[in-house]
Amino acid sequence: MDSVVMARALFGSSMAFHIIFATLGVGVPLMIVFAEIFAGITKNSDYSLMAKRWTKAQAILLGVAIPSGTIVGVMLSMLWPGFMEIMGQVIAVPFQVEIWAFFLEALFMSIYIYAADRLSRKLRILSVIMVSFGSASSAVLITNVHAWMNTPRGFKLADGKVTDVHPLQAIFNPSFAVTAIHVVASAFMTGAFCVGSIAAYKLLKKGKSEREREYHRRSLYLALIVGLVCSMATAINGHFTAQMLHHYLPLKLAAAEGLFETGPHAALEIFGSTSLEKQEVVGGITIPSALSFLATDRFDGVVRGLNDYPRELWPPLYIHTLFNLMVIIGGFLVALSFGALFYRLVLKRPYPRWLLAVLVAGGPLSLIGIETGWIFSCTGRQPWVISGVQKTADAATLSDNIGVLFGLFIGLYVLLMILTITVMRYYFKRKPVARELGVTEGS
Ligand code: HEM
Repeated sequence: MDSVVMARALFGSSMAFHIIFATLGVGVPLMIVFAEIFAGITKNSDYSLMAKRWTKAQAILLGVAIPSGTIVGVMLSMLWPGFMEIMGQVIAVPFQVEIWAFFLEALFMSIYIYAADRLSRKLRILSVIMVSFGSASSAVLITNVHAWMNTPRGFKLADGKVTDVHPLQAIFNPSFAVTAIHVVASAFMTGAFCVGSIAAYKLLKKGKSEREREYHRRSLYLALIVGLVCSMATAINGHFTAQMLHHYLPLKLAAAEGLFETGPHAALEIFGSTSLEKQEVVGGITIPSALSFLATDRFDGVVRGLNDYPRELWPPLYIHTLFNLMVIIGGFLVALSFGALFYRLVLKRPYPRWLLAVLVAGGPLSLIGIETGWIFSCTGRQPWVISGVQKTADAATLSDNIGVLFGLFIGLYVLLMILTITVMRYYFKRKPVARELGVTEGS
């Protein structure tokens, strides 16, 4: 296999692993913030216990997010020296500031954990808000570089040399705001749905005491509220992200929707797969004029098609499936959290077992949304690493030893995943909710 493909496989698998922990590292602190706030408002100690237990989980997640993030950072220079040469001169600032965001998170995490007993409720809430602010800021700053890769601004490239650098133009590139909001909102919703999955799973399990079930019902309720708000924010912002593609990256939108011909009344294709031979999406559900409306706010708005561009600049057409998966998961999770809250608040009935079983899937589905979203965005940028400026092939290392590294790192990630799950299970089995609530299990 050629070295560019191997470099992409190694970097892609490292990112796919790191992003799970990085996303939960942003999502879980927000859940802790709300648990602390609910504890303050309701004076119910269950919420304090949730905050305490989720903080332990967050500490374990951070333990993996930090080394895996460091690996990704090292790989950037190792695998993409050509990219680092341009990126380093134009938009290195967000990476540097990110270290401060991380400091902020770590500092307030230490205060929150080690001085919790000595702090008033208000100061505890403030310190965990700072943890959440630090982790979300890290995500925004890293996303800043990703957005710049999609819509690069703030420099000129003449004879392979970077000139005329304007860091602020690079930082505030056209896709920055909309992309940063999408990444943070989707991380928040993922944190909520993962907490919800665990609570729903515990409620499905037989033999739990009523006191324990009450604790898990509260946890699920909190997760559903945060999950509904953040999944709606993700979907609404996703719409603006698609409009950003229409303005700045129309080829990516055309590939996402399998649209070949430019024109008004462009249809939205749900499901199906893009056929190059037939020049259309086959086996999908077609909603006439909907893509025009989504992209331009008008049913007769003109959307550009793939055939407007040379074939060698097309991204792979399978990104239609990735885009579909992300959007369908987003829509499904809005409906799921809304439906579950309707059951509880309007019908005032306990969640039926089938609904709990579906809710268990919420966390894994969000994580699939995160993975497909990132793969869609980065694969949809191909053949460019910096859109319209540098091709991926020109940025990659020339080393041909990456195959061995790829094998080693896959092994490392499998090991780290097993270790994380084992440590989590060990900790939470040693300190079951029942014991912390002061009841014996099953009573
Ligand atoms: C519900 C409707 C959604 C729409 C319309 C939507 C739209 C988009 C678009 C257009 C992009 C590409 C941006 C680019 O390449 O510059 C994107 C990327 C992404 N999406 Fe979504 N999305 C939706 C739901 C979700 C959900 C549910 C998740 C995860 C739980 C998610 C996570 C991501 C991630 C991580 C990225 C990559 C970062 C980025 O480039 O923005 N999205 N989304």
